[in-house]
Amino acid sequence: MSSKKFYITTPIYYPSDKLHIGHSYTTVAADAMARFKKLSGHEVWFLTGTDEHGQKIQRQAEKAGKSPRQHVDEIVEWIKELWGELDIGYSDFIRTTEERHKTTVQKIFNRFYEQGDIYKSKYEGWYCTPCESFWLERQLEEGNCPDCGREVEMLAEESYFFRMSKYADKLRRHIDENPEFIQPPSRKNEMINNFLEPGLEDLCISRTTFDWGIRVPFDQEHVIYVWLDALSNYITALGYLTDDDQKFQKFWPADVHLMAKEIVRFHAIYWPIFLMALGLPLPKKVFGHGWLTLEEGKMSKSKGNVVDPRVLINRYGSDAIRYYLLREIPFGADGVFKLEALVKRINSDLANDLGNLVSRTLTMVERYFNGSIPEPAGDFAEMDKQLQELALQTPVKMEKAMDQLQISNALAELWELIRLCNRYIDHNAPWDLARQGENTRLGTVMYNLLEGIRFIGVLLQPYMPRMPGNIFKQIGLDDYHNLWGWDSLARWGQIPAGLLIKREEDLYPRLNLNKELDWGRGQEEEGTKQQVQETISMEEFKKVDIRTGLVKEVERIKDADKLLKLQVSLGEGETRQLVAGVAEHYTPDELKDKKVLVVTNLKPTRIKGVLSEGMLLAASDESGNLAVTTVDGNIKPGSRIS
Ligand code: MSP
Repeated sequence: MSSKKFYITTPIYYPSDKLHIGHSYTTVAADAMARFKKLSGHEVWFLTGTDEHGQKIQRQAEKAGKSPRQHVDEIVEWIKELWGELDIGYSDFIRTTEERHKTTVQKIFNRFYEQGDIYKSKYEGWYCTPCESFWLERQLEEGNCPDCGREVEMLAEESYFFRMSKYADKLRRHIDENPEFIQPPSRKNEMINNFLEPGLEDLCISRTTFDWGIRVPFDQEHVIYVWLDALSNYITALGYLTDDDQKFQKFWPADVHLMAKEIVRFHAIYWPIFLMALGLPLPKKVFGHGWLTLEEGKMSKSKGNVVDPRVLINRYGSDAIRYYLLREIPFGADGVFKLEALVKRINSDLANDLGNLVSRTLTMVERYFNGSIPEPAGDFAEMDKQLQELALQTPVKMEKAMDQLQISNALAELWELIRLCNRYIDHNAPWDLARQGENTRLGTVMYNLLEGIRFIGVLLQPYMPRMPGNIFKQIGLDDYHNLWGWDSLARWGQIPAGLLIKREEDLYPRLNLNKELDWGRGQEEEGTKQQVQETISMEEFKKVDIRTGLVKEVERIKDADKLLKLQVSLGEGETRQLVAGVAEHYTPDELKDKKVLVVTNLKPTRIKGVLSEGMLLAASDESGNLAVTTVDGNIKPGSRIS
């Protein structure tokens, strides 16, 4: 067995809200990879964790009426429970709010500053808070974030910047010379064409308009940009820049950083550049898999319980959910999560192919040999050889597929073996052999089937950690742990004859599709009901001070095509200046003299350098229409909405 090392990471998750089945996809895939490498003799380090700082989390906590710390603590707890239920065998779980992480991130920031990679300036531009990412005007899509399609906000604040341009050429060379670095290849082209070719902008790496983050050590007004904070987890968790950096020495560089496609940019551009600045080797592979969506579009928690991984695990078991996620979608491509497809996979692959193979075999061993595993003997038939050969080749084929992260293909290889075993039963018709009294041949057929099932059990372990133990127990190998390992696949025929099998109930009973679909519909409704319950209280609503206002003056803002500056009277001599993103929908004249609604108790902010002391309310729809809300009748400016 080799003593090769393998270091794999998942992205660290935002504990802003509970995770859905799409999030679980990345972690299940990483876990299967980690387990496969462990099985095949590698020393594995598998890191996951949570990305707890930043404006998004701070806002989410405020919305929930909690402190950021309390908010993240609760969700991290939930995430850890989820990983437990999904059998995620991580080696370490890092939280970016831990001291071990924060101290090292500050050291990294200092180092960049000391070596002249950082300078102070002012950031004026767009920001997508859900993605925590900065965008240039030209990168926006219809004015929205090109990654998530949501609204961006204008920031204008003092920031530290990282000189990305200094390392851009070196990164480009690295990408060209290492075709395996960004995978699959379509993601590599996207990085080159969309980000490197047009020229890398310097990156804003600190913020001042909120405080939930790691402080810049030499300038306490600033918190470190959450992506620099988060990406560093891959080395802070290994003890980088600490007295105990053994793990770092052993496992860095990472073999695979795994993630979904929309965050490849951070891992394939910013992260390698930060590493270059630290003088560290780059990860061997950055792999961006596709998105799991729903038929009606993007996945989100608001789609109800049917995307809640814990609800699904509770009904179908973690093995089945893992199998479905890993098998259904070619790893790398986008895929649609469908309850119907999950149920069909369980019925066809797990109940029919695998479950039947095991139960048919065990029933026959019971019936024909009183449950005692027979000795193989006599002349071997052509199909015996075929079965042995395929069994011996399957680990090799699967390893090759796994090395390319073709997880679904690896499982397809394993199912070839399962199907061949089933054909082997049909071809040999053991019931005829029994009737004809061909006991020697019958014994050989049974033995080969049990050995085939053992191979299958061993190779299933990375994907379905629970069920193989049950298989081994049923075929009498409970205490033969050496026959559960990779090395035991080097030779055919290792099950000791004479062992007693212990048949139990079927591994996977067939499900009734209609019943499951009914259940799914019920869950969707349940989810919708819960959402209705997630309404805010009257008390919370009353905190928002919305008043009527009369628009007195309106001007355009230089270099900001979308913005208008309004002077709005709130009565009793009070006038507020508002900046509103409505210039593409209203001319200044059209807005003048309108009776509008204004949120008056928002913290004042500057948009494009212009002070805004409240928010003008407007409605917008998916087709891009926008209408400012106005008030009819004879109501005085400054009247409160209640
Ligand atoms: N916190 C950042 C990652 C920082 S890594 C240094 C983040 N977190 S996340 O919670 O939003 O997402 C975690 C992972 O789940 C990402 O790889 C993300 O792309 C993935 N997915 C989120 N929704 C998904 C689907 N619907 N389908 C597949 N993967 C999904 O991004």
